[in-house]
Amino acid sequence: MEKYFIYTYGCQMNVHESEKLAGMLETKGLKKAEKVDEADVIVFNTCCIRESAEQKIMGNIGAIKPLKKKNKDIIVAVCGCMSQQKDKPMLLRKKFPFINIIFGANNIEFFSDYLDEYNKEKKYLNKVIEGNYQEKEDGISFVRDNKLYAYVNIMYGCNNFCTYCIVPFVRGREVSRHPDTIYREVKDLISRGYKVITLLGQNVNSYGLDNNTGGVLFPKLLETIANFEGDFEVRFMTSHPKDISDDLIEVMARNDKISKTLHLPAQSGSNTILKSMNRNYTVESYLEKIEKIKAKMPNITLSTDIIVGFPGEGEEEYQLTKKLLSTVRYHNAFIFMYSPRRGTVAEKMENQVSIEEKHRRVNDLLKLEHEISDELFHNMVGSNQRVLVEGEVNEFLIAKAQCGKVVKIEKNESIHIGEFVYVKIVDYKSGDLIGKI
Ligand code: SAH
Ligand code: SF4
Ligand code: F3S
Repeated sequence: MEKYFIYTYGCQMNVHESEKLAGMLETKGLKKAEKVDEADVIVFNTCCIRESAEQKIMGNIGAIKPLKKKNKDIIVAVCGCMSQQKDKPMLLRKKFPFINIIFGANNIEFFSDYLDEYNKEKKYLNKVIEGNYQEKEDGISFVRDNKLYAYVNIMYGCNNFCTYCIVPFVRGREVSRHPDTIYREVKDLISRGYKVITLLGQNVNSYGLDNNTGGVLFPKLLETIANFEGDFEVRFMTSHPKDISDDLIEVMARNDKISKTLHLPAQSGSNTILKSMNRNYTVESYLEKIEKIKAKMPNITLSTDIIVGFPGEGEEEYQLTKKLLSTVRYHNAFIFMYSPRRGTVAEKMENQVSIEEKHRRVNDLLKLEHEISDELFHNMVGSNQRVLVEGEVNEFLIAKAQCGKVVKIEKNESIHIGEFVYVKIVDYKSGDLIGKI
């Protein structure tokens, strides 16, 4: 075993988990392969949030077959949310008999042990186990591709059971990590020059509610980190709108090191649909929170997730979602077509929406969101922004605003990659902001 290649699908959580997989492989002495056909170990870290994700992954696993035919010694491993679904390991193995190791989303940190076991026996291993996330006691190392941005898990799993969502089934219940472990990890990252730390959890606002943290809740955790020495920013995702508290808004507002950007998935603008999704908030209470956030932080950039075509969403309900987008005015909205997931409540609901209608609504909403965000970015012209310089292209330095938007700055000898700088936005051209020191 000399080289490895990892395919990663799904959310930031999975991106971070692939950094753990890479860490374990490099600890074993393997190096990252530039191309998959140079690899001795190929890992698929999968997602099953929507049918489309699963189809893509299936296609990509199938494409490995010729490589495996040429060289039987290649080890193919499949892990993550898709393998964690009921009966999935069996189905995967049936379709792709060349898979050597299958494990789940909750025992990622034990991959190294599974590889050792496989190398001894050379027999197919199914290591998927039910339950919650398990951390390896002695810890593992990470291999992060990015030198400026880093993810840190603060909790695993989800207790919310939104009726459309597979995550609680494949990721188990909420487990918070101990604050001291998180503080240690964050301090280490800051000391190694990381500039933006993103705290990860499916619902960061329930951090500590499982009594694993000695009474530390999310606002406290966040503020403690924001008070660390060093030149960095801290962000987090995702916040469930039902749990975002005044306390958290205050903490965000009074700490400069907390990025003024917030992802607050609304999912729908109709109370009927929100109820049927089991989201536990109303459009009114959501908007109330948005108002508070905007009042305390006038420069905040907001983003959201929206699902169109949820069962029972007629034209009237859909129009309410359009209205919500126009009211809140997000800098960014991720818009998804509802995809029925096996075992969820919504899968069995009546009044499923046709695929044609879902397509129509997605395109219509994307168009609206594009108009809104375009206007918001135009409005940023004249404002001052704190941006992080990430690289350079031709005569420009490429930086990013807190919301993730690219800001181009004219090259300047005194500015270096990896530095935060203050710029005045002077233009918005072909989708990029132009900034001046
Ligand atoms: N825990 C986070 C995100 C979970 S998944 C949260 O609650 O916000 C990311 C997004 O995928 C969700 O916000 C939702 O918009 C979307 N999603 C989840 N299940 C889906 C499904 N079955 N079909 C379509 N989109 C879905
Ligand atoms: Fe899924 Fe809802 Fe949990 Fe988010 S909060 S992961 S949408 S069940
Ligand atoms: Fe996908 Fe699992 Fe994330 S289903 S979106 S990889 S939690």
